[in-house]
Amino acid sequence: MNAIASPANQTFSADWRTFESTHRLRAVKLLTDSLEATWDDDRISHYHFLWLRDNCPCSQCVHPGTREQMFEVVDAPGNLAAESISLNATGSLTVHWSDGHRSVYEAGWLRSHAYDALSRSERADRLYSVRPWESDLLIPTFDYSAVMSSDPVLLDWLLAARDIGLTMLTGMPATGEALENVARRISFIRESNFGVTFEVRTKAEAADSNAYTALELPAHTDLPTRELQPGLQFLHCLINDAAGGESTFVDGFAIAATLRAASPEDFRLLCEHPVEFWNKAPQSDYRSYAPIIGLDSRGEVSEIRLANWLRAPFNLPASEMSAFYRAYRHFSALTRDSRFIVSRRLEAGQMWCFDNRRTMHARKAFDQASGKRFLRGCYMDRDELLSRILVLQRGEPGHSIRAA
Ligand code: OGA
Ligand code: ZN
Ligand code: ZN
Repeated sequence: MNAIASPANQTFSADWRTFESTHRLRAVKLLTDSLEATWDDDRISHYHFLWLRDNCPCSQCVHPGTREQMFEVVDAPGNLAAESISLNATGSLTVHWSDGHRSVYEAGWLRSHAYDALSRSERADRLYSVRPWESDLLIPTFDYSAVMSSDPVLLDWLLAARDIGLTMLTGMPATGEALENVARRISFIRESNFGVTFEVRTKAEAADSNAYTALELPAHTDLPTRELQPGLQFLHCLINDAAGGESTFVDGFAIAATLRAASPEDFRLLCEHPVEFWNKAPQSDYRSYAPIIGLDSRGEVSEIRLANWLRAPFNLPASEMSAFYRAYRHFSALTRDSRFIVSRRLEAGQMWCFDNRRTMHARKAFDQASGKRFLRGCYMDRDELLSRILVLQRGEPGHSIRAA
């Protein structure tokens, strides 16, 4: 571990990011259980004493090497108060506490973490912003060599994967290693019972998934049978000489939004009733029980979970069964609506990379007799994508966290 030298009591950031100070504190005033800060643009932010004490960045409170907190706020007196406060020449704020502790906060950090209504409204409260799409999407496409050699290109690709949820790489060698090389350029691969990487080809004698036949696959997410579906899916084409087998995609979030507007009741049913998905095999038995449409704590769609061929019989109160079938059929029909479908044949040397918890993918049937078709795939959790993006942004001038 790379310990950061930090003389006792010198302030440092309790974060690996930097916080540019684009605004200065004009005045600070003590109130009963908080202080009131007035910024140079007249914004007023209140900071509660316990909140400030909790976030003291000094080297007694935060380990200078790990930048993780050692202090626990339960150890502060319940009646903790600021005895005096002062604005320093550098724009930072010093607080002397009633228990003798002293804290120094940088203005950029305070502004970036302010929790007045305006500051909160300016800040995204999810780690990424979804950009919905329909059939006219211009698929964000990146060159394999550029992604492998340039961090800015890698970052652009990952941002597209995060916010649009469907990307293509071109110019990839049609070799076995290329997929792992590019996946590891992001981070750790998520292994599954299908392997670190899996091969999509017809396995006539021993297909253990409909994916390994020449059948059409309806719009689906992969591994809905797991408690956590993989966030990213990669599908690299080595050979595609067979007639048919086109890839199609729909934005599951866009479809869910359309369903919500057209029939709030159908939407509710798919959000509230868990469905069982199963992946039954001689040596494994994976099952999950979760709704087709997942919502986050704010009620926004955060996940789609569906593969028709991995679905167990619905287990619902009899009084809800007819309505649930109406809702399920409604959602499925939207995944077939040309308004939403992006269709493209994946050629040798190309790779799909998409958000498997949002973008539903499908494959047209292909004709095995007409030629070979061979894809290799792998998965990665969304955490790996998000972490890689933040680290890439950390290093870029202008990408440090700038308070509005
Ligand atoms: C899969 C799959 C797509 C294809 O293996 O889950 O969706 O084009 N394959 O074969
Ligand atoms: Zn401290
Ligand atoms: Zn699939």
